[in-house]
Amino acid sequence: MTTESLTRDVRALLRDRHAILLAHNYQRPEVQDAADLTGDSLGLSQAAARTDARVIVFCGVHFMAESAAILSPDKTVLLPRMDAGCPMADMITADDVRRIRDELPGVPVVTYVNSSAEVKAESDVCCTSANAVKVTRAVGAPRVYLAPDQNLAQWVARHTDQEVLYWKGFCPTHHRLRAEQVLEVKARFPGAPFVAHPECRPEVIDLADAVRSTSGMIDYCKALDADTVIVGTEEGVLHRLRKDSPAKQFVLAYPDFVCPNMKLTALEDVLEALERGDHVVTVPESTRVRAKAALDRMLQAGRD
Ligand code: 13P
Ligand code: SF4
Repeated sequence: MTTESLTRDVRALLRDRHAILLAHNYQRPEVQDAADLTGDSLGLSQAAARTDARVIVFCGVHFMAESAAILSPDKTVLLPRMDAGCPMADMITADDVRRIRDELPGVPVVTYVNSSAEVKAESDVCCTSANAVKVTRAVGAPRVYLAPDQNLAQWVARHTDQEVLYWKGFCPTHHRLRAEQVLEVKARFPGAPFVAHPECRPEVIDLADAVRSTSGMIDYCKALDADTVIVGTEEGVLHRLRKDSPAKQFVLAYPDFVCPNMKLTALEDVLEALERGDHVVTVPESTRVRAKAALDRMLQAGRD
């Protein structure tokens, strides 16, 4: 089947099932093109909550579909590839968070949405890469604990007077990028701005002209007056960057900047998910209610 006919079949089934297709900015180009909405974790979780569709098909990784299920209990949430997980989310458990709370009584736990529903349920508030600084400041406490990403936490620490303690998790895809690799690319493209994701190491962040979530990067690059931009995040984002700015050259900070989990979902999987009505992602109600409270507090802090 061609991409065109697959897309046509997917779109027809979406209409038939009263379903909406959401795709993260790291998804394969043809999946992004077939989607109703593309975006970062924050944008997609908000879209998931707003939509009046009966079914949400989430092209992303498991925690994202879980977030949609937490925010939209009346909708069916499908994850086309059940094996699309996030290694960083798997680096912390609910027991770990309970232990942190016991050891640090009174210290609010701010949890990156790249985490399981159980972990969110144990947290005071969630954050995304787009609103982590704002949410942490809004918590107000002099000491805060960020989990699970050590790099996001260290980036937040640069932008607040609060003491930031953190879990030592990381995104393998972003953590792999080293400062020397960025310096090499910079030497090949002198003067090109470098935009990095906050999941990158602090020494990589030191070299960045801007630090943004994926959607933040898309807005930043569109407005940027530059011929070439060095991109410090997963290569899926290049699809949209090139669409928005065909005259600009986008260069990855390292050649194989790929999250294998984000690349699992093919249009065939989306079609199959719609045909069969699987794989349904659910969250037990007692967990869902507490995780939703943490996500709601994030959305509230983001608004203020
Ligand atoms: P954002 O799109 O929210 O920046 O998230 C990056 C990411 O790694 C998602 O898995
Ligand atoms: Fe997880 Fe990193 Fe992949 Fe995002 S890019 S899903 S944080 S492993």
